Amino acid sequence: MADMSTTLSSFRLPNPILTASGCAAAGRELGQFFDVAELGAVVTKSIMMQPRSGRPTPRMAETPSGMLNSIGLQGPGIDSFIANDLAWLHEQGARTVVSIAGGQTDEFVELARRLYGHPAVSMIEVNISCPNVESRGQVFACDVSASSRVIGAVRRAADPNVPIFAKLTPDVTDIGTIARACADSGADGLSLINTLLGLVIDVDRFTPALGGVTGGLSGPAIRPVALRCVWQVRQAVPHLPILGMGGISSGLDALQFILAGASAVSVGTAVFGDPSAPMRILAELEAALDERGFAALSDAIGFAHLDADERQARMTVTV
Ligand SMILES: Cc1cc2nc3c(=O)[nH]c(=O)nc-3n(C[C@H](O)[C@H](O)[C@H](O)COP(=O)(O)O)c2cc1C
Repeated sequence: MADMSTTLSSFRLPNPILTASGCAAAGRELGQFFDVAELGAVVTKSIMMQPRSGRPTPRMAETPSGMLNSIGLQGPGIDSFIANDLAWLHEQGARTVVSIAGGQTDEFVELARRLYGHPAVSMIEVNISCPNVESRGQVFACDVSASSRVIGAVRRAADPNVPIFAKLTPDVTDIGTIARACADSGADGLSLINTLLGLVIDVDRFTPALGGVTGGLSGPAIRPVALRCVWQVRQAVPHLPILGMGGISSGLDALQFILAGASAVSVGTAVFGDPSAPMRILAELEAALDERGFAALSDAIGFAHLDADERQARMTVTV
């Protein structure tokens, strides 16, 4: 079978299947279905400095081939997260990517400091797809200078041995420009995509279906958008690894992201309907690579960007 190991900058993973932030909390619930240490890594729900109760209910609405959520970064705050969730993940031997979110640059910096040197933290995902309270709520990742400021400050504050990945929103005109700005500011890689901003109206109550009015669209409906973003970012910053996500629910979905340039993938919404989806997707991806003659996952990363002659030459060597 294909060698499934991969790397996200200096972080080495035995396989490329991770959870997606916010879709598996800190992994405890998934622990009933499989050993979380078997995942490439657990990506935790974005954590902020203070405990937060999130946005008003209802917080979820079904949509064709997807769902809309407005959870609003509910969470226990960094101190409780480190004492309970991170400690539990460490006990399980799970590789852990901690997602951090802040309302201003200083909050991101303080979060990075609190995580400095913690043995359970393999990587930090910086969720810049959240509102900047100092800029009338404009999402950091929609603005080149706000993205650069946060990523540069986190890179300086975080443990230099821990890679930091910037998590980008697809709700921009040119995602390549944002990705390049993050790369220039010290990001070690890019996670994409976060949800797309959407709205559902309840036609019986004549109001938005979600308490928070708008919400983030996820699931299979966004997969072509996510793949397009991975493709464009791979071309904009070919030297940086990509953690791809958006509507992945099978091994062949994951393979599309790998071929488009992702070094690993996160599985989010699929977990709500099938908690063991990450392990199934891993087995399906392994079989799909094998069937196509790839001896190693790493040979398939970005393969769809090669021209026909290069593809042919590589396949001949691989098979
Ligand atoms: C209920 C829910 C909560 C989420 N919470 C977060 C979060 O806290 N931080 C974050 O960076 N992304 C969050 N996301 C976005 C996912 O991590 C992922 O980027 C997105 O859902 C696309 O992947 P999917 O289609 O496989 O779910 C959340 C998504 C969902 C559905």
